[in-house]
Amino acid sequence: MKIVILGGDGFCGWATSLYLSTRGHDIIIVDNLSRRDIDNELGVSSLTPISFPQERIAAWKEVSNNEIKFHNIDVAREYDSLLALLKKYEPDAVVHFAEQRAAPYSMRTPKAKRYTVDNNTNATHNLLCAIVESKLDIHLVHLGTMGVYGYGKFENTPIPEGYLKVQVPQPDGPALEREIMYPADPGSVYHMTKTLDALLFYFYNKNDKLRVTDLHQGIVWGTTTDETGRDERLINRFDYDGDYGTVLNRFLMQAAIGFPLTVHGQGGQKRAFIHIRDSARCIELALQNPPQKGDRVQIFNQMTETHRVGELAEMVSKATGVPIQKLENPRNEMERNELNVMNENFLRIGLKPIKLDEGLAAEVTDIARKYAYRVDRSKILATSRWRS
Ligand SMILES: NC(=O)c1ccc[n+]([C@@H]2O[C@H](COP(=O)([O-])OP(=O)(O)OC[C@H]3O[C@@H](n4cnc5c(N)ncnc54)[C@H](O)[C@@H]3O)[C@@H](O)[C@H]2O)c1
Repeated sequence: MKIVILGGDGFCGWATSLYLSTRGHDIIIVDNLSRRDIDNELGVSSLTPISFPQERIAAWKEVSNNEIKFHNIDVAREYDSLLALLKKYEPDAVVHFAEQRAAPYSMRTPKAKRYTVDNNTNATHNLLCAIVESKLDIHLVHLGTMGVYGYGKFENTPIPEGYLKVQVPQPDGPALEREIMYPADPGSVYHMTKTLDALLFYFYNKNDKLRVTDLHQGIVWGTTTDETGRDERLINRFDYDGDYGTVLNRFLMQAAIGFPLTVHGQGGQKRAFIHIRDSARCIELALQNPPQKGDRVQIFNQMTETHRVGELAEMVSKATGVPIQKLENPRNEMERNELNVMNENFLRIGLKPIKLDEGLAAEVTDIARKYAYRVDRSKILATSRWRS
């Protein structure tokens, strides 16, 4: 397949690009490097020393003999370039990772809130509009988040894959059975943009019959894949700071440098997780199983397990002897929630989930230990607040 990867320089996008390239796909990365710019703005950098895009791509050619193309385009602002790119390459699919993806960053300042909404909704809308204008039959695979469902809204009721069966009361006669989009319940400006994306997909699918798969992904952990581990120049990004670092990777990094594990609130928050290798595999499966023309938006829950934040911290603490510190929760969220997620779609089409195990956790700790000298301890604590 010929596949355009929007956001292919990022954490998930880079690992996925190499994974798909290894499997014989023709990969074109589009990225405006805004994530690297935000690192500069926050005064942090990836724990791992990531190479420049050009260097990464040259290294990949050297070790795999596969060529990946790279285009620096701002998908949210350079519509004409995006359209020209689609027309030039005529891809079978576009995988859309190109959004501002940190909830804490999206709540940081009015400027960051506005940037997140402008960037994410314009990127998604430009892409949909460009696919229609190109007249190409492109399968759009978008990376959404489990956070669109909200946490604990319907207690422990299993969260279906995007659509909820409801009974609509009728004035005269029996209720109608319908499936509607699961009620959105975003917990941050970032999550809100993903719920807006879902409406954009709904409209363009209904109006223009676009083929769209929306992947509601859990928190990604791990860092290395078979491909990124092949050469130091291919190393993947590892965010550890208070805005971009994701919870399990942060605990493993903190353990590696002996920094007390930061649990916000009492740790009763239950969240969904997936390893970076499974994330790439899921995208391959989604690409191999596109919806047919005229099908509604296909929604898969891309997660493999759920854990409470406090329990993860205890597990890492027990394994490493590093204590836990409980901090005030900067977020506006329930102290404790249930989370029961259905993920039958990916299991049915062949996902064999990698579960959290000590080997993989140790691999992340080893990476963190190796690059511990790069940690800026002053950037570890979360500073973004949900309420001013
Ligand atoms: N990392 C996770 O735990 C996680 C969990 C659930 C969902 N997701 C989703 O997966 C996607 C990728 O996440 P990630 O962790 O790889 O994030 P990331 O920030 O590492 O990567 C995103 C990439 O998109 C690029 N980008 C952003 N806006 C762009 C624009 N307007 N034009 C071109 N490029 C642009 C950035 O420069 C960056 O390289 C995001 O949409 C995110 O919401 C991630």
